[in-house]
Amino acid sequence: MEILRSIVIVIHLVGFATLFGAWLVEALGKKRVTRLMHWGLAIALVAGLALSAPWGLTHDLNYMKIGIKLVILVIIGGLLGAGAARERKSGSVPAGIFWPIGILTLTNAALAVIW
Ligand code: HEM
Repeated sequence: MEILRSIVIVIHLVGFATLFGAWLVEALGKKRVTRLMHWGLAIALVAGLALSAPWGLTHDLNYMKIGIKLVILVIIGGLLGAGAARERKSGSVPAGIFWPIGILTLTNAALAVIW
């Protein structure tokens, strides 16, 4: 069980890496919202929800932290949707949508590790 949980954590991290990596490429480039960001978010969400159930654990879960991470992830999802829509309409993503995507993603990783 513990090994299975570790595998799901790796999948959770792959989701984070995909979202943040895709965003970083765009931050250094055209500053668009890409499909890969949506995929990373979906993978982090599904694996995160699986990890939110108390199985294969040797410690207690911090549900306050998990709830805040979920809220932040939903906000990132909203920004991805709004950014993609704005890009379709005007050809570019406003800075006020693009930058918070990366900052909030990093915030979630920092919350996960530091709290
Ligand atoms: C972009 C969004 C997210 C990022 C960057 C992120 C990042 C991380 C990281 C780096 C870890 C490993 C921390 C450690 O084991 O020390 C982790 C673990 C975890 N995450 Fe996330 N996460 C995100 C979203 C979510 C969401 C939406 C949920 C649940 C709804 C969630 C639930 C969990 C749980 C339950 C763990 C394991 C905690 C434990 O075993 O104590 N995460 N996350």
